[in-house]
Amino acid sequence: MFGDLDLGVAVVAALLTGVVLLVVLRRRGPRRPPCAAGWIPWVGAGLRFGKAPLEFIEQARAQYGPIFTIFAMGNRMTFVTEEEGIDVFLKSKEVNFELAVQYPVYRTASVPKNIFLTLHEKLHMTMKGKMGTFNMYQFMGRLNEEFHEQLEDLGPHGTMDLISLVRCLLYPVTVNVLFKKGLIVSHKRKIEDFYWHFQIYDEGFEYGSQMPEWLLRNWSKSKRWLLALFEESIPDIKAYKPERDDCATLMQAVLDVVEGEADRHSASYALLMLWASLSNAVPITFWTLVFILSHGDIHKTIVEGISSVLGGAGREKITVSEDKLKKLLLIKWCILEAIRLRAPGVITRKVVKPVKILNYTVPSGDLLMLSPFWLHRNPKYFPDPESFRPERWKEANLEKHVFLDGYMAFGGGKFQCPGRWFALLEIQICIILILYKYDCSLLDPLPKQSHLHVVGVPQPEGRCRIEYKHRHDVCQAPRGPGPSGGATPPATHLAPGLQEG
Ligand code: HEM
Repeated sequence: MFGDLDLGVAVVAALLTGVVLLVVLRRRGPRRPPCAAGWIPWVGAGLRFGKAPLEFIEQARAQYGPIFTIFAMGNRMTFVTEEEGIDVFLKSKEVNFELAVQYPVYRTASVPKNIFLTLHEKLHMTMKGKMGTFNMYQFMGRLNEEFHEQLEDLGPHGTMDLISLVRCLLYPVTVNVLFKKGLIVSHKRKIEDFYWHFQIYDEGFEYGSQMPEWLLRNWSKSKRWLLALFEESIPDIKAYKPERDDCATLMQAVLDVVEGEADRHSASYALLMLWASLSNAVPITFWTLVFILSHGDIHKTIVEGISSVLGGAGREKITVSEDKLKKLLLIKWCILEAIRLRAPGVITRKVVKPVKILNYTVPSGDLLMLSPFWLHRNPKYFPDPESFRPERWKEANLEKHVFLDGYMAFGGGKFQCPGRWFALLEIQICIILILYKYDCSLLDPLPKQSHLHVVGVPQPEGRCRIEYKHRHDVCQAPRGPGPSGGATPPATHLAPGLQEG
């Protein structure tokens, strides 16, 4: 009888020891973040994630907390949503930008991985230098001229899909300024063909970055068309001498770096640069115009400000200078606010050594992900986050080129977007000249944003038409001191209720 009891006690004790050991070992071993994995091997949560990735990310955050992993199509993507994780994302040496993007770069532009890794840092420094804040004055004159030229083609009045109008302006202006004037129309290729192929390439970029090309026939055709265009025109880009200034274009500077061993990949780099310079700038120009035109008070204040700073509306070729931009600060605020609300879905880094975040260890091999789109909806950083409130930018030290805390639209850390100052300048000049030349109104309500993609800024879903007509009938004398004298214009032009405190 005692023997039976002893045995029972021994079994219970052994079981208890086992449980305790398990708990202790689990505690000691690395604890991974909670994971949304689904039940199908390899596919994981891929089907649900693929249907509406942006929404899935937010649902997972609500379910699992500030750090969580989504396992989809064989990839582990670990999302960080609060300070500690964001800090690791931006500053840790254990996470790497190049290793995270080398594969998408290979798929979308056929740059081999070894070439990409060898050249990336030098290329980044070159782009950062060419498009740094101190160099923006170099772009001012060219951007003004180019936008005037393209706006001529719009005629005195018309109705268009706004996104098409923005493409008609930004495609040629950006290419003429950053690559070579006349590039799109040279080599007997029609401008419409360029628009057509670039649009297909841009729309399919996210799928193209993940799927084999043979599954995406149309996208692959457009990619090859664009690569062929660049193959033909690389010698012309290299030989091009910009008329007004003696310094090389951005693309010429990039080609200088690529020259030598990687020469035969020049067209691939040109394609990457083309995509980087247009894919976000076009939808952001669209969204900014839509937000301005659908907020009557802001629209009115901006138009009054433009008349006051640039003079009565007309068709003459006025120049938007740096000084004038400083007096039209509300427009810059509107652009930054539009970018806040329509920020890229995700940016990414590769974990190269396990990193601790909160109480978890993120294993090497994971993709560390950050969603600027959702971060910009955190009320801790942006009160009333869903509202378009340009006046919140009053708090940012834009003179010193500092954005608001928590603003991650251009990424961060060492490889932050090198084109951000160029983008802001280009979009400001574009919007000012459109609203200077034309009375504009929207014929459709504010469109929804597509939730289908997470790479880059969201595209509009459905059409949104704009009606425009020359403003030459509204001739107001300028109020500023400038060439025609008059009262001092207000420093910024704020909508009623948005006055500076
Ligand atoms: C509103 C417009 C734009 C937005 C929202 C935007 C956003 C971004 C973001 C989020 C990244 C990734 C940064 C990271 O992972 O930390 C990036 C990279 C980059 N952007 Fe932009 N961008 C814009 C316009 C432009 C323009 C106009 C250019 C060129 C003229 C440009 C050139 C690039 C390049 C080349 C990279 C890759 C940098 C590298 O590989 O080191 N971007 N951008």
